[in-house]
Amino acid sequence: MQRVLVTGAAGFIGSHACEAFAAAGYDTVGVDNFDPYYDRRIKQTNVAAIEAAGAHFREADIRDAEATASLFDVTKPDVIVHLAAKAGVRNSEKFPAEYVRTNVNGTQSVLDAARRNDVERVVMASTSSVYGSASAIPFQEDDPAAAPLQPYAASKRAAEILAGTYCSLYGLQVTVTRLFTVYGPRGRPDMMPYMLARSCRDGTAVPLFDGPLERDWTYVGDIVNGLVQAAEHPLGFEILNLGRGEPVALAEFIDEMAAAAGTPPVLEARERPATELLTTFADSTRARDRIGFNPTVSVHEGVERFWDWFATTA
Ligand SMILES: NC(=O)c1ccc[n+]([C@@H]2O[C@H](COP(=O)([O-])OP(=O)(O)OC[C@H]3O[C@@H](n4cnc5c(N)ncnc54)[C@H](O)[C@@H]3O)[C@@H](O)[C@H]2O)c1
Repeated sequence: MQRVLVTGAAGFIGSHACEAFAAAGYDTVGVDNFDPYYDRRIKQTNVAAIEAAGAHFREADIRDAEATASLFDVTKPDVIVHLAAKAGVRNSEKFPAEYVRTNVNGTQSVLDAARRNDVERVVMASTSSVYGSASAIPFQEDDPAAAPLQPYAASKRAAEILAGTYCSLYGLQVTVTRLFTVYGPRGRPDMMPYMLARSCRDGTAVPLFDGPLERDWTYVGDIVNGLVQAAEHPLGFEILNLGRGEPVALAEFIDEMAAAAGTPPVLEARERPATELLTTFADSTRARDRIGFNPTVSVHEGVERFWDWFATTA
């Protein structure tokens, strides 16, 4: 049985990833430091879910290189799925140093522990945000992605480049997955789907940037299937877009949420900051060809599943 170590396991995507790897027959260990960006109780509930699915959990901080090295010594993983990060585009504008510390230096600790422990392969999460406003649409992996718009995206792009060097220099196999606007049950409270659902239920106002904005909303179940497929197809160093490939206007997404909830959200018009992309649109041809990535959940179905979770649990 192969052992997978999932970083960021108490988070939104990490908790789903742990469940998916456990279901796929991996001995699954999750790690997280309960970063205070959002409520620890939400993360503790996520940890309870992964333990119920048969995964083990350890609390550790990837910014601490010694702690990360000893975590690898103790757990001896075959595969790493590195999702731990400071997320949040707008928060990164206020605290850029924190994003570099976790997303660049923390990733370096993980890559270093992986190569010293002869880990077979690493799958790590990057983001569609690495494509700045100069990128051709749909976004393709060969785009230089040389001008990210915020510290968050820049830190993720830097981590990608570092991973490429770890492959060429030390032979570590790394697949970087660029994730496109992931949503679904256990979604992060700072993201639009959660804010909309809370607004439908409680009447709290949601800032709405002028646009028209569209996003390539991708359901979390499709994303974690892609992470498992990436772990099972070592490719040397590779970058793969994981996105549905069907951008949907934010206005349409809001209508879907209002229909699922039975009431509309309260929206407050705001000017769009220069750091906010108008469109995200994945060309996921490479992921389909190389690992068999095949997202199946429509925005209509995904929003209903999100609302069902929110209404009963959040
Ligand atoms: N949600 C999305 O739409 C989206 C889109 C693109 C990329 N991503 C990427 O996917 C990954 C997961 O994102 P998410 O939305 O689940 O966010 P999340 O914040 O829910 O999960 C990230 C987890 O990492 C943990 N973490 C942070 N710093 C850590 C540290 N120093 N040591 C150990 N753990 C630490 C946090 O406590 C958190 O539980 C991230 O790498 C993010 O950049 C997410």
